[in-house]
Amino acid sequence: MRTVLIAGNWKMNHTVSEAEHFFKELKVIKKEAELLICPPFTDIPLARFMLGTSSIKWGAQNVYPEDKGAFTGEVSPVMLKDLGCTYVICGHSERRQIFKESDRFIAEKVKSVFAHDMIPILCIGETLEERDGGQIEERIFAQLQNGVSGTRKQDTDKLVIAYEPIWAIGTGKAATAENAEAVAAFIRHSLEKLVGKKAAGAIRILYGGSVNPDNVSVFIKEKNIDGVLIGGASLKASDFASIYKKV
Ligand code: PGA
Repeated sequence: MRTVLIAGNWKMNHTVSEAEHFFKELKVIKKEAELLICPPFTDIPLARFMLGTSSIKWGAQNVYPEDKGAFTGEVSPVMLKDLGCTYVICGHSERRQIFKESDRFIAEKVKSVFAHDMIPILCIGETLEERDGGQIEERIFAQLQNGVSGTRKQDTDKLVIAYEPIWAIGTGKAATAENAEAVAAFIRHSLEKLVGKKAAGAIRILYGGSVNPDNVSVFIKEKNIDGVLIGGASLKASDFASIYKKV
């Protein structure tokens, strides 16, 4: 059984006082599904302080794949672990596009997150041009192959994959549940080839891209979709709680 994961990615939003307001407002009843918030680095100590005794988990949106050293401006997996993070988003499309992160560099991040007993959420997805050009499978397979290339066998079944078609992120134009499921099924099938059937069956696949309280249910019902990664709709405690309630 794969536990459903509802993850919020705040991106570069919410100062500490805004985050405090959010955490105070967020009231959820514990369910079997996991609830996760990935705020900016600056809000993580507060998340630990305010969510520490709740069932809500916190994580990070990025990491630098070295334990410490002369990497000005970066944050290490050791630091994130020390702040109680359980998950780290790796290779979000904004990191790939704006900061030119390569598949190979993202694979290093996945490896370093696992090495520090946290769980990577590996984001993959195609651009509109790749979709229109019939290259979805080729692109997704390459991202997956690179992403899992450094993972130890004992870790692979804990990996989380977030399928986020780039054209659906922040546009209000979510993929249809059928389209998202078709790609999720392809991802699982590809994982069988890459890491074996058993791990592929355990790996959770999330859908992300314009998920909101009105459309979340249709994605969760799909066989190969085990949760959602939410950007915009995770910024308001009431929206985020209502997404969780619908699951
Ligand atoms: P969105 O973002 O929900 O605002 O489309 C999703 C994401 O980038 O993870």
